[in-house]
This record gives sequence, structure tokens and C-alpha cells, in this order.
Amino acid sequence: MNEVSAQRRDVFAPGRVNLIGDHTDYTGGLVFPMAINRGVRITGEVGGHHVEVTSDREPVAARFSLPVTDPAGIEPRWARHLAGVAAEMGTAVGFTGQLSSDLPVAGLSSSAAVQVAAALMLGHEGSPLERAMLCQAAEHRATGVPCGIMDQLTIASGIPGHALLIDCHTLEITPHLVPDDVEIVIVHSGQHRELVDSEYATRRAQCEAAEEVIGPLRIASLDAVGDLDDAVLRARARHVVTENARVAIFAEALAAGDYAEAGQQMLDSHRSLGHDFAVSTSVLDALVDELCAVPGVYGARLTGAGFGGAVVALTRPGVLDQGFVATASAGASVL
Ligand code: GLA
Repeated sequence: MNEVSAQRRDVFAPGRVNLIGDHTDYTGGLVFPMAINRGVRITGEVGGHHVEVTSDREPVAARFSLPVTDPAGIEPRWARHLAGVAAEMGTAVGFTGQLSSDLPVAGLSSSAAVQVAAALMLGHEGSPLERAMLCQAAEHRATGVPCGIMDQLTIASGIPGHALLIDCHTLEITPHLVPDDVEIVIVHSGQHRELVDSEYATRRAQCEAAEEVIGPLRIASLDAVGDLDDAVLRARARHVVTENARVAIFAEALAAGDYAEAGQQMLDSHRSLGHDFAVSTSVLDALVDELCAVPGVYGARLTGAGFGGAVVALTRPGVLDQGFVATASAGASVL
């Protein structure tokens, strides 16, 4: 076997916040996320036929030999994010390092950030899009969660000062400047997301079942959605079709400085995620109402998969005294 001499490497992968467009990516719809100024850093020595990583968030280190063939069987569970990436890359050369993160545990894609950081530590040389697709495949393989492409693609491709309008069918990314007379504020609900994996898979399956009847949801009309006999599938499909429309309206409103309209779209999105897609919780609903009652808050909504996690608000600068202000940041890179 080929011994590779140790070499220091330091990588950073941001988290992401989705401003609008949730549960639309896996049916090829529109999303509007941005990479943020918090994330996951890994530093270490490249080399050896293993991956060994300590984390400031986890009591037990990740340690496994390379090459990996069964990442879903690796313990502790958080190590599966690293192992999935190593398995997809088919690499036999690993690293020994330390991981540190300033992301909250749920809602801002900390696991996708770990995956993209791991790909860079393992020397992935493709484009950001290729890296995102590899990490998405790693998540499917290592955790069984049939996630879409939004998180990994945002984390791999972030642009400072910009949110990314992503067409998840063509994978075309259109950067949109985040105006400097608004703030994007992230407030964590304090609620963990225990049901998220199984419920996420169920929602995705329901969207696919609706598509079997009326064709791709990304181009379906509300009339076609109304023809679905099954009330649950009809509600799920209605969320997706209306959410895609809201993303486009939101992007235009933000660019035009019409923050009242942008905020209204966020609130409508939150209601649709709760009522039609059934992924909100009473804690998230109460937090959105609380934030929207503050003068200068244009709108707020749950961000990401739901079932807990974080809320994102669009505000006039300086009006909220909770959470943190997220700035649109660059994608993952070797430092
Ligand atoms: C999770 C998934 C994404 C996306 C969101 C919901 O974050 O990883 O692919 O589906 O949920 O928008």
C-alpha cells in the first residue's frame, strides 16, 4: 500500500439557512438559501489508512479504517457523516483531526457541513456541484435519509453577500444580493428534531405518490392538485406548488426592496408548511408569532426540514434581541 506523508490541512464548511422554499428541492423545485457565517471547521494531518476525528460537540471520537464499505454500520452515529463521504469517494487515505462547530445542533445543516468539510479533508477535487452531489449520496447511503440537494449545494457553493436562488431541477444557481437594509436573524426553537428522519422520508414518498398521479410537482397547476383524490396527497402537493410560487415572488420582492411582501411570503410559507405539509410544531408556530409581533419584523418562518430546529426572520436591522444575525457567506473551502 502506498504510504502518504502527513500534511496539515484546515477546512471550513458553513451552515446554511433557507430563507424560503422548503420541501421543494426533492421534487426539482425552487429554494432560496444562503451559506452563513457559522459552520464546521476541521483541522488535522492528512495521511494513514483511517479517519480519526474528535469533536467539541460529541463525547466519543469518530474512528474507522479505510476504505469504508458499510458507512451505515459505523458507530458513533455522527461518524457516519464522515464515513459516508469516505465511502462515496472510495478513498484509502484518511486523516487525523479535530472538528469544532459553532452551529446549533439542528436546523442549520450541521451534518451537511460536516460532510462537505470531510470531503475537503479527504482531498475531493471536483467542482462544488460535484462535491454537493457526492455528499448528498453519502447522506443517503450512510444515514438512509433521502435528502434533497439544497443543503450540500448551498454549503459547497455559497457566495458572500448573496442568497442563492436554486432551481433544483436544472441545478442552476442565480445569486441574489441580500440588501444591506435588512437583517436575516436566526432564532433556535430549542426543540430537537427526533421524528425528522422517518417523517422526512414519509413526506418525500407522499410527494412522489402525488407525482405518479399528476406528473412533476414543479410544473403542476393548482387545478391538477385539486384533482388528487387523496386529501393528504392533495395537501402535500398544494404546499409544494404554492411554495415554488412563493420563492419566485420572494426573490423579486427582496430585489425590489418590498420587504412587506417578502415577509408576507415567509409567513405564508410557514403556514403552508404547518397546515398542508404538517412539519411545523406548536413551539415553532409560537416562535414565529412572537417574532412577527415585534415592530420591524417583516416576516418569519421555520427553516429546513421542520419538526423543531430554527426559525428565520427578515427584519429591519437591530430590532430583535434574540438569536443571531446571519450574514451570507462563502462556500466551503480549504483554508
Ligand atoms: C432538509 C434536507 C433538504 C431539504 C430540507 C427541506 O434540510 O436535507 O434537502 O429537503 O430539509 O427543505
